[in-house]
Amino acid sequence: MFPTDRMRRRRSNEMIRNMLTETRLHPNDLMLPLFFDESLDSIKYTDSMPGVPTYPLSKAAEVSERLYSAGINAVMLFGIPRRKDAEGSGAFAKNGVVQSAIRKIESTSDLLVAADLCMCEYTDHGHCGIVCEHGVDNDLTLIKYRKIAESLADAGAHMIAPSGMMDGQIMNIREALDDSGHKEVPIMAYSAKFCSGFYGPFRDIAHSAPSAYGRETYQMNPANGREAMTEMRRDIEEGADIIMVKPAMPYLDVIKQAKNELCIPIAAYQVSGEYAMIKAAAANGWLDERRTMMESLISIKRAGADILITYFAEEVLKELKK
Ligand code: PBG
Repeated sequence: MFPTDRMRRRRSNEMIRNMLTETRLHPNDLMLPLFFDESLDSIKYTDSMPGVPTYPLSKAAEVSERLYSAGINAVMLFGIPRRKDAEGSGAFAKNGVVQSAIRKIESTSDLLVAADLCMCEYTDHGHCGIVCEHGVDNDLTLIKYRKIAESLADAGAHMIAPSGMMDGQIMNIREALDDSGHKEVPIMAYSAKFCSGFYGPFRDIAHSAPSAYGRETYQMNPANGREAMTEMRRDIEEGADIIMVKPAMPYLDVIKQAKNELCIPIAAYQVSGEYAMIKAAAANGWLDERRTMMESLISIKRAGADILITYFAEEVLKELKK
């Protein structure tokens, strides 16, 4: 008790503060999302995601070389196809946008390449599956997910990350991968993916905002922490190798509980809106960008995340090198 114990003794100079730091970011924690748009000839920027480029396929080799030599270990790929249709057929095209990007990246770098598996970037209605009169049909969608998984793994994806929140998707994708000779390809499951307002800027990049109604019949209610635990347990039982919580900072309690109760690596996705908030406030001079970027990611790791998926990955690397 005070005055014998004084907490401030352990904060009194920089050396001791450095020594007693409990949580540290490491370059290998980071995974950088990358966007490729099949119809672009040159790099495009989106107002709501300052500093996040959408690349044409012609830049894939150059970009991956640059990122790899800068110290990026892992990327997560998203594709915007030239044409969208009701079935999202671009998602499983042999020479689809992500399939092509994977081949180019892997021929030029040793990046770990994860591929997001979903249909919302590929469907004209913007939903993550097949739409019927009653809404998004779970089991018809699973048939497509199996084809997408096989197609991404055939192209060489090192990891498949299903983000559509259909029931049974992990079991089905595991089976499709095993049956097509991809037993070694792990699944990073977007298990606790909430129906969040923080995906707004991503949907600007991918032109994937759903047209008629929202995603609340498949993505989770932000109010439900216990249900998130059930989602994660189900995915582990179905064969997930890594589970994910998304968004990250509004759901630190979910990350923490998963860390305490489940023995499996946990990824957290600091989504587009979390990134855009910091960028916008910093651009106005209201927040210090470097400090709040590092603090936000430290908080996510401190809560229990092993993998940090973040648009800040390159900037964090620069900060860690200082
Ligand atoms: C695809 C998907 C989305 C994100 C990742 N995968 C969009 C969505 O669910 O609307 C969002 C990522 C971000 O906001 O950074 N289903």
